[in-house]
Amino acid sequence: MGEAAATAPEAVAEQRSTTPAVTEEVIVLDYGGQYSQLIARRVRDCGVFSELLSHHLPLEELARRKPRGIILSGGPASVYEEGAPRLDPGLLELGVPVLGICYGMQLLVRALGGRVEQADVGEFGRSDLHVITPGVLLRGMPLEQTCWMSHRDAVFEPPPGFVALASSGASPVAAVEDTERGVYGIQFHPEVVHTPYGQEILTRFLTEICGCERTWSAASIVEEQIRRIREQVGDSKVICGLSGGVDSSVAALLVHRAVGDQLTCVFVDHGLMRKGEGEQVVDAFRDTFKVPLVAVDAERRFLQKLKGVTDPEAKRRTIGAEFIRVFEEEAAKLAGADGEGPQYLVQGTLYSDVIESGGGTGAATIKSHHNVGGLPDDLQFELVEPLRALFKDEVRAVGAELGLPDRLVWRQPFPGPGLAIRIVGGEATKERLDVLREADHILQEEIRLAGLYRELWQSFCVLPDVRTVGVQGDGRTYGYVVVLRAVTSDDAMTADWARLPYDLLETIASRMINELPAVNRVVLDITSKPPGTIEWE
Ligand code: XMP
Repeated sequence: MGEAAATAPEAVAEQRSTTPAVTEEVIVLDYGGQYSQLIARRVRDCGVFSELLSHHLPLEELARRKPRGIILSGGPASVYEEGAPRLDPGLLELGVPVLGICYGMQLLVRALGGRVEQADVGEFGRSDLHVITPGVLLRGMPLEQTCWMSHRDAVFEPPPGFVALASSGASPVAAVEDTERGVYGIQFHPEVVHTPYGQEILTRFLTEICGCERTWSAASIVEEQIRRIREQVGDSKVICGLSGGVDSSVAALLVHRAVGDQLTCVFVDHGLMRKGEGEQVVDAFRDTFKVPLVAVDAERRFLQKLKGVTDPEAKRRTIGAEFIRVFEEEAAKLAGADGEGPQYLVQGTLYSDVIESGGGTGAATIKSHHNVGGLPDDLQFELVEPLRALFKDEVRAVGAELGLPDRLVWRQPFPGPGLAIRIVGGEATKERLDVLREADHILQEEIRLAGLYRELWQSFCVLPDVRTVGVQGDGRTYGYVVVLRAVTSDDAMTADWARLPYDLLETIASRMINELPAVNRVVLDITSKPPGTIEWE
């Protein structure tokens, strides 16, 4: 069971392959389960390339891809309901091992003549799994183990020819297999960490049952992408907008490895970055990696445009528009004597963006309010998207493989409009930006010193346009209030406020007040998302 909607049928026709030329692939068919993406990620963690595709994918297309195995995901429907997603019986004739998870298992059981019904009680969360007979799938694993369940329907009888491998409190049949047919099913979720033997079960399926060789790794991704980029670009010029974030950094490095100095990176420093970040980007790319880099100091231009702008959306629009203007100017300067400028533009589109958009073209995927600092679709470039097949953790692994410094590989997300949207309720002036930048620098230093940087999704400061009264030394002060915001999250869709240690908070607050004359008060934001958002505007 799960809440996410399965990929809409109309999106299927558009589904553009992200498949690198891998020798083995396991396809996860998405029935709308909340963990479907995670299944593909876990399969890749086992060293096997995997894609998440809609269950509407035509059988011929599935066959054409020659997967080594097929996994059917969970989903919110009941198999016996009218209109519930069905299983194409032809899928079982492909001669490829199939593993059904949760709804996927129920689909297999029902299609092959077993009994699936609603159980008296649902089973949500941790459950005890009792292994009756381990079979191939559970061989060598403990006979009693815990697992993560999320279902109301249950399998009461396996189909003829199948062996029931395990049961749990509310699932008379919690795992089945028919080794002759190569069909396997588990009611629980092996992809979540709460199923301790989940990864082992997936590995068993992938290696012993599907015979995969586990060749998918950061090194193999690099090699493959370099080949593809060379093939796509030939000897044309390529341009890449660097933001300092991990996606654009890794994409740029891959392209540079592939086509060398045909690539020029453009880094627009809009003056809204964190302290020292512009220098770090220039240092890493121009000095260490010797990537041709145009660093544009555009602070004055941006601050000029931001004069008098207080509305958050107006700030985003202003910054976005100016960013494009600067980028286009720089691109135009790259035209050689023959007038030939770059034909290709590198973008750091990720596989999760591709999935979110139903497998569309990627450019439309970046959530509209996050498109700021990105580039419009109508720029006259062909896109190079070397990260299109990768999850974020794979992007980091590739970055590390390419020698990108840890600081860039593990950088927390930072919004395109930068510090401007963290000066809340007022104009982003140079004076305020400098106060915020210094406060943020103290926060970052202390969070890193405390060893918490990687644990947090984001940690940053907000500077509201208000002053509060204080008393310092013998005098009254009238200074800025700095808000500390630190959150944990998996994907920014939801977030929890981070429980930073009191001692750490105290150090941060007293450093800010002692070191920053303009600041006389520090407060902590303890709002989760929802109901709050991560940023303040
Ligand atoms: P919210 O504030 O919506 O943020 O909870 C979710 C994530 O998106 C980032 N964010 C932005 N990123 N341009 C960006 O590139 C933006 O305008 C923008 N606004 C929010 C935010 O930092 C968080 O990671």
